[in-house]
Amino acid sequence: MTDPGERLRSSLAADQATTAGVEWDTPIAMEAMRASRVLHAADQEPLPAPGRIRVMTIANQKGGVGKTTSTVNLGVALAIFGLRTLVIDLDPQGNTSTALGVDHSVGTPSIYDALVGDSTLAEVTHPTTASPNLTCVPATIDLAGAEIELVSVVAREYRLRRAIELYLQELPADQRPHYVLIDCPPSLGLLTLNALVAGDEVLIPIQCEYYALEGLGQLLSNIDLVKAHLNPGISVSTILLTMYDGRTKLADQVADEVRSHFGSVVLTAVIPRNVRVSEAPGYGQSVLTYDPGSRGATSYVEAARELAFRGAGLKPQVAAPPPAPVVAGPPVAALILGEPPMASRSVGHRAGREDPT
Ligand SMILES: Nc1ncnc2c1ncn2[C@@H]1O[C@H](COP(=O)(O)OP(=O)(O)OP(=O)(O)O)[C@@H](O)[C@H]1O
Ligand SMILES: [Mg+2]
Repeated sequence: MTDPGERLRSSLAADQATTAGVEWDTPIAMEAMRASRVLHAADQEPLPAPGRIRVMTIANQKGGVGKTTSTVNLGVALAIFGLRTLVIDLDPQGNTSTALGVDHSVGTPSIYDALVGDSTLAEVTHPTTASPNLTCVPATIDLAGAEIELVSVVAREYRLRRAIELYLQELPADQRPHYVLIDCPPSLGLLTLNALVAGDEVLIPIQCEYYALEGLGQLLSNIDLVKAHLNPGISVSTILLTMYDGRTKLADQVADEVRSHFGSVVLTAVIPRNVRVSEAPGYGQSVLTYDPGSRGATSYVEAARELAFRGAGLKPQVAAPPPAPVVAGPPVAALILGEPPMASRSVGHRAGREDPT
């Protein structure tokens, strides 16, 4: 099979060849030039490594807004342009695994075994065909039961964080991923809570549609609760506008509203509604490998470039203070999850990635 990176570069070369000498005064010519420029620039300059390992949680409890599509395509874009990336599928639907061509049938070592069982993340990490830089922890349908099975597990909200910390610690520095992307299910349950406790940054995809902002307040207040009680390092660092349809006024209105509310957190790159994006998973591929010259592909490359350049400016992680002792405290996770109060629960509180307990 042709190397996807090579395919992307040859698509770029083909774009340039076919657009040479064209007048840039038509929308199609502009599009061609834009695609060519994006792909060419990325080809010339590999994406910069982040100042520290970025663990990004891709969350929005609204369904079908592009969480999985964005996780997959940003992951592939980062990897193809030189950055080691680990994608963790935390959705029992297993769509991320499908799109990356990773087996997720029952019995496949998966994130369930690391969260509920005793497996390490290394034992459930699989290679992908998209890029040697891209690995994936798949989700099998077993994960559907994890929300319930985890309820009685000690420090249940820290399971993913600890698995990631151990994984990073055990890898030699030159093999550690630059990016860890966690695709969440469309709910605010224990799986998403684990992802919010594990991440340093939240990336929220917002669909440019009428009800796009509905429910966002609940996600943001949950993130605040997690920040206050479970993971002081978490913040919403990135918002990505998805499924933008330039033919509608509505898409512009939603985009304007999101930008005026969230400011510079919103990436300049916008992902258009593009049929190639929705076709790609059917072939077990990202849109970058399925149709590298499509608007969907070039937009995700643009978004990944922006993400990478923002990440390059991050300061290296400072050594975290030693963890606070595990004390009996308020049942924070239960509060966030809206569970009835439990008799007595211990809640661990840790401040940093470096010092797992
Ligand atoms: N830019 C796009 N253009 C066209 N279709 C898209 C685009 N982005 C996503 N889709 C399609 O929209 C549907 C929902 O996308 P996706 O699965 O990424 O959303 P999600 O937020 O992960 O959904 P869920 O909440 O169910 O996990 C999929 O069929 C996907 O192929
Ligand atoms: Mg999804």
